Amino acid sequence: MRLVTTVGELQMWADAQRAAGRRIALVPTMGALHAGHRALCDEARRRADVVVVSIFVNPTQFDQSADLEQYPRPLESDLETCRGAGVDAVFTPGVGELYPEGSQTWVEVTEVSRPLEGRSRPGHFRGVATVVSKLFLAAKPHVAVFGEKDYQQLAVIRRMVRDLGFDVEIAGHPIVREADGLALSSRNVHLDAEMRRQALVLSRALDAAERAVSGGEREVRRILHAVALELGKAPLLELDYAELRDPETFDVVSGEIPGPTLLALAARLRKPDGPPRATVRLIDNRVLQPPTRSEE
Ligand code: PAF
Repeated sequence: MRLVTTVGELQMWADAQRAAGRRIALVPTMGALHAGHRALCDEARRRADVVVVSIFVNPTQFDQSADLEQYPRPLESDLETCRGAGVDAVFTPGVGELYPEGSQTWVEVTEVSRPLEGRSRPGHFRGVATVVSKLFLAAKPHVAVFGEKDYQQLAVIRRMVRDLGFDVEIAGHPIVREADGLALSSRNVHLDAEMRRQALVLSRALDAAERAVSGGEREVRRILHAVALELGKAPLLELDYAELRDPETFDVVSGEIPGPTLLALAARLRKPDGPPRATVRLIDNRVLQPPTRSEE
């Protein structure tokens, strides 16, 4: 497995792969790799001849410096995971490599970036769109694979690729969950046993909404009530948002859901005895599929 730290070297590697007629897949990550990332690597392998994983904790997508400092960086075990997944190259640039001294160029996707995560984390998607553009220019992939847990991020990237005409196919991969339903996340390592137990209400709330919708419920008010009943069972949870949105435009859905609708959740779990700011922020989502009118 090739270890690459500079943009120039990665571009040369990518040029050589392309010249040899090989299809390149990129899996962009911030490290702290878990089974969800492993699934992205496997998907990348299915879609291409060579796989490059980038590991870069991107400072410009963090709106809180404590969150950036706390972010886990287990590089050695990440490299082991990549080797185990048969990854061909790993790109681990330093901050100065992707943001050269005096950088002043940004990529911003406007409408799709505004609600949900964009509202809670100002500037987050500008940081994501900018770094992903830089990674595309460095790794020259034919295809890039992203997890659907960050559903809005995937929508922002699809929009960016369309608007800027990047010649990269974007592939989404379904959320990978623990056996009990908790969505895998690099932040889960910060949950103690009680927080982890209570974090399960997120996936249970999605299940409750899905049950209601497949049973014929279309009224937004009632679906969100089913969600609130589940979330209310976790006293350590502080809800950030629970919203129903159009899965492409991210427009808010009101009245009745007209068709497939994104249910997006974000919440902070408080440490039971910790200081008020000791929280772990988790997100989860599901696209709810109402039965067609003839099936109801
Ligand atoms: O999803 C992530 O891990 C990050 O947002 C990404 C896409 C690697 C950009 O830093």
